[in-house]
Amino acid sequence: MTSFNDSFGLSFTATSADSIFAYEALMPKFLGFRREMMKDLAALLEADPEMPMANLAKGYFMKMSGARELTPIADQQRALVKGMAGRLNPREAMHLTALGQWCDGDMDGATETWEALLRETPLDPLALRLAHFTHFYSGDGRKLRDSMAHALPNWPEDHPCYGFLLGMYGFGLEESGDYAKAEQFGRRAVEINPEDAWSVHSVAHCLEMTERHAEGIEFTRALEPAWSKVNNFRYHLHWHRGLYHIERGEFAEVLDLYDNHFGRDVDTPYYLDMVNATSMLWRLEMFGADVGDRWQTLADIAAKRIQDDELIFVSLHYFMALISSGADADVTAMMAHLEEWAERPTTQGRITKQAGLSVARGMLELRRRNYDAAVKELYAVRYGMDPLGGSHAQRDIFWMMLAEAASKGSDPKLALTLLAERTARKPHSAWGWERYADCLSGGGQGDRAEAARATAKELVAH
Ligand SMILES: [Fe+2]
Repeated sequence: MTSFNDSFGLSFTATSADSIFAYEALMPKFLGFRREMMKDLAALLEADPEMPMANLAKGYFMKMSGARELTPIADQQRALVKGMAGRLNPREAMHLTALGQWCDGDMDGATETWEALLRETPLDPLALRLAHFTHFYSGDGRKLRDSMAHALPNWPEDHPCYGFLLGMYGFGLEESGDYAKAEQFGRRAVEINPEDAWSVHSVAHCLEMTERHAEGIEFTRALEPAWSKVNNFRYHLHWHRGLYHIERGEFAEVLDLYDNHFGRDVDTPYYLDMVNATSMLWRLEMFGADVGDRWQTLADIAAKRIQDDELIFVSLHYFMALISSGADADVTAMMAHLEEWAERPTTQGRITKQAGLSVARGMLELRRRNYDAAVKELYAVRYGMDPLGGSHAQRDIFWMMLAEAASKGSDPKLALTLLAERTARKPHSAWGWERYADCLSGGGQGDRAEAARATAKELVAH
């Protein structure tokens, strides 16, 4: 094994310079969600079975899928590279530490290790994307934004990953609420590479948060030939288009996207597939649409994932499917699992204890039509849900559950305040105005109810 530098001075331990070329070619595919990424990594490992960074990348990719059955492979990769400890350069050794921390459940520690690594070697695309991933699952948009801001000035514009970085920065800006600047960065990245699905996604989030639903449909549709070339992440962009349609009352379009794209093939080890499907079915029901027997398929898949313990955000979505159409015994088993998880001294265990358990209990009570009990659970953590991770747009479903429970519960004044909050935050949401109208009507404010209902109707018509 020898030390080689890549085109931008990053040092690697490998058996030949060809391995470095192959690794460099892999990184844009990793950042670009390319379907051939795992095949290319397998070819690299076949050619250079002991290349530390290729082995570490394999371990990381298993963890990133969010599936319990792949974690033993990550553990194996960690053990394998640990056996090479004497031959690792300092950056590779830090990656080994980070993978180990992640495998041990210390996601916060892994994130800190990548950030420390990036201060030393900011041109490491793998560390940068992994930190982006775990900042995302800490739910803190400022960290997501600043991590990219720290690294970006160091990157030459001719680096093959540069455009991806602009989109990642755009996403960090969006999750920290700076929508105008976020959109500029996201659109610049999309101009560089329209197949860069994460950057398209950054812009899609800006359009969602600024409630430009028609523009969102047009934007995602126009670029679909480009972004649909990527792996299952493409389904998340279909899901985003579904969010725009649902606000316009176009439920048939949402169900069409569900049946033909993001709900079609969800029994996969990629965590986002079930997240897309479950959260959209739940939303559709909250909007008053009939989803037929679609929950059953999802509940059957969720039943196989009761014991998953990678990301509480993801497990809450499995739970949505179980409580919607699963067997009582499975619901009980998963709640017991979540309670046990909340006692573990891991990053995700802490988050489960802080907010995950209350959200799970709240959604269960809501499904059982115990509305006041649901409000009690969800209201207690309403300002503490960010650490669950995912985006603001995704976590919105938990807030909507609270509003739904409140509007059917025994405290109409609470429901009224929540819906007033909703219409202030999302003035173009017909869902919010309709429910606000119901609350106003129930509270004897007929004129204001009529005005709110008229606003809702006008929004749906447009
Ligand atoms: Fe998203």
